[in-house]
Order: sequence, then C-alpha cells, then structure tokens
Amino acid sequence: MSISVAIDGPAGAGKSTIANIIATKFNLMYINTGSMYRAVTLMSLRNNINYKDVNSVCDLTNSLDMYFKGESLIVNGEDVSEEIRSIEVSNNVSNYAAIPEVREILVKLQQDIANKYDVIMDGRDIGTVVLKNSPLKFFLTASAEERAKRRYEELKEKCIVVEYNNILNDILKRDYIDSNREVNPLRKAHDAIEIDSSKLSIDDVISVISGYIEDYMKNQI
Ligand code: DC
Repeated sequence: MSISVAIDGPAGAGKSTIANIIATKFNLMYINTGSMYRAVTLMSLRNNINYKDVNSVCDLTNSLDMYFKGESLIVNGEDVSEEIRSIEVSNNVSNYAAIPEVREILVKLQQDIANKYDVIMDGRDIGTVVLKNSPLKFFLTASAEERAKRRYEELKEKCIVVEYNNILNDILKRDYIDSNREVNPLRKAHDAIEIDSSKLSIDDVISVISGYIEDYMKNQI
C-alpha cells in the first residue's frame, strides 16, 4: 500500500515540526518543499542571479542535484540545511517561489519522489497541485500573531535578538505574497482537513492527524 500525506499552510504554522514527527511515527519520507524553494533562492543569491532573470534562475534550478538525507537537504553534494534558513534567504524566497517555471521544475521533482516513496510533504500547494489526488490532506493554520510569537521564542532560544513586530510584519508580508501570487498560491484544497493550531499543542495536532492516517490505513487492509 502506498501512502502520501499533504500538509499545507502559512509560514510558521508548525508544518515542519508536525510533518517530521508524523514521518517518524508512520515511517514516511519527509519532504519539506519550502526547503527546495529556499535552495533555489540560496544558489541564485550566491550566483548573483536576480529573480527577474527567469531564464538564468531556471537554468540554475535545472542544474541542481537536490535530495533529502533525513532532515538535511543536500544540494550538489553540499548540506545547505542551515544556510537556507538565513534571514537573507527568508527575505527573498517568496520572489523566487513565485516564478511559474521554477514551480514547474520543482513540482515535477516532488511528484517523482512521491511516486517512488511513501511520503509526507509540506508546503503551500501540496494538496492543491503536487499531491492533489492524495486522500490525506491537511491545512494547518494559526493566527499571524501566534506564528510570530512562536518564531520569536525560537530565535530567542538560539540567542538571536529580533523585534517581535519585525517578525510579525515579515510573516504578514510572506502570507500576502504566498497567497496572492498568480501560480499555485497558498490555498486550502477543498478536500483538506483544516486544523487551527493557535490553541492546540503539538501533541494535540499529531493526535488529530494520526487518527486520520490510522483510519485510512485500516480501510486499506
Ligand atoms: O515553508 P517555508 O517558509 O520554508 O517556505 C519558503 C517559501 O517557499 C515561502 O515563501 C513559500 C514558498 N513555498 C511555496 O511557494 N510552495 C511550496 N510548496 C513550499 C514553499
């Protein structure tokens, strides 16, 4: 029996934390598709390729050998997991992720992986585009304020000093770009289960999603 689980939602809703735990629990490969858009952004910035230079961004994207090794993303043999989380990449990634041709290349890569392995994928267009036939789709949300608070706490723990309001503004800006771009904007798939995690613990969310996956598995036997 093959299985693919889709998790979409805005930045900071807890998708990757949840997806990681579910992946371990059900022995699925975790594909963080945001990391793939971040990798394209990182490599473009390193090579001084502006997002408006679509041909060059596409050539670069096609030249990248990208795969996940556990939680790490390896690009052209280099572990870029840390660097793709930098503020510079975070501030630029929405522009690169809005390029239709880049999305086409990465969506194809993501679908190829899902055809070969049991996966849980998180992103913005997983339930609507990448895994649109998956029976297990979740849309994870939380208020912008709650997401900014979580990010603030996370950075504080790493001793990184940032203003809460700057984080909130950044989140609102990214929400806007991700939800309003022309191609594959952030949308809840009509058949996705919406979970608002604002007032739920991680364990609560895991238990809701696990329940759906277990039911699905039982019905497949
Ligand atoms: O999930 P994240 O914040 O790491 O995503 C980084 C960026 O990539 C964000 O601007 C949304 C975009 N993205 C996307 O457009 N489609 C996806 N499937 C995943 C992420």
